[in-house]
Amino acid sequence: MPIYLCRPDITEKEIEAVCAVLRSPDLSLGPRLAEFEKAFAKYIGRKRAVAVNSGTSGLFLSMLALGIGPGDEVITTPFTFVASATTIMMAGAIPVFVDIDPVSLNIDAAKIESKITGTTKAILPVEVFANPAGIDKVCKIAQRHNLEVIEDSCEALGSAINGKKVGAFGTMSVFAFYPNKQITTGEGGMILTDNDDLADMCVSLRNQGRAKDSGWLSHERLGYNFRLSDINCALGIVQLSRIEEIKAKRKQVAKWYQEMLANDDRLTVPTEPDNCDISWFVFVVRLADDFTLQQRDKVLGAMKDASIQVGNYFPPVHLQPFMAERFGYKQGDFPVTESVCKSTIALPFYNNLRKDEVAIVCKKLKETLNRILPAV
Ligand SMILES: Cc1ncc(COP(=O)(O)O)c(C=O)c1O
Repeated sequence: MPIYLCRPDITEKEIEAVCAVLRSPDLSLGPRLAEFEKAFAKYIGRKRAVAVNSGTSGLFLSMLALGIGPGDEVITTPFTFVASATTIMMAGAIPVFVDIDPVSLNIDAAKIESKITGTTKAILPVEVFANPAGIDKVCKIAQRHNLEVIEDSCEALGSAINGKKVGAFGTMSVFAFYPNKQITTGEGGMILTDNDDLADMCVSLRNQGRAKDSGWLSHERLGYNFRLSDINCALGIVQLSRIEEIKAKRKQVAKWYQEMLANDDRLTVPTEPDNCDISWFVFVVRLADDFTLQQRDKVLGAMKDASIQVGNYFPPVHLQPFMAERFGYKQGDFPVTESVCKSTIALPFYNNLRKDEVAIVCKKLKETLNRILPAV
């Protein structure tokens, strides 16, 4: 049996909730949709929540609701999942990258202001790997320059900084529920905002541009089908009700890794920054600077050969071939990001990963490092 990179945590309660929807006539646009949105808005502490069929859809609709389009620039990070940047492009706007902080791995707030121009409309910060550090600073800069914030909280459900939950910072904030996330709906996403007009616009855009009280075949704007079915919402309601249990399980797994990988100069192991509560999404260690990309990839290969699933989160977004071709980005443009990207190893990480499995992963990782770059 391999040790998996991620696994969902589905109990009988989720199965029963999904089956109850299947026994009802309300498979979509039913009561579970409203219930999931209400519970989610309450959990984060926002006025409105709009469920959609993916985090990508949520980011894209946030752009449209804010009127971001051709000719606009949106500042974001090159160290993220590609959808943070591609959704800016889907709206017809230009992603402008700012390098990252080498510790939090989030956008470096100190470098943002030099990239703000007359056409900058918004900043799209990401709480990468669920680390909320710096989001408050980004919002202050946006406020000073009268810019919107689209908070990409897709990886960070349950994280908080100074007691304020992520998803409560942006003009609009977005979560994602793919099965590797803290909670899953199979596929799904959620948009949050305190602005009724923005929320109402997203409700219309996700449902073919229909108006609130018009008929099924009356469309007042160009819209999409980004609806989340009640089957997905029923799963999400139960998962969300378990968030504290889920957070605690993940904190325990992170602690085992931190203990078992401590005191090895070849590794940087993630920890919780001051004033931050991390709701762990993944557990990504980094190799020391004297490892090359080729050596890192050798480590990944050796782990996979031992049936331990690992990941290389993330390759730099600006160097994805289609990005480099479209915008002319090249190696060396964002040195901190590029140096981090060549060093990351995402280790198996999920709620029910056992201590003995964490021990197997750590032992294999150390053996592999000893072979590739012996400890000094
Ligand atoms: C930072 C970030 N943004 C956006 C997304 C997109 O979410 P989805 O896969 O639900 O479209 C993800 C998903 O992994 C993500 O990690």
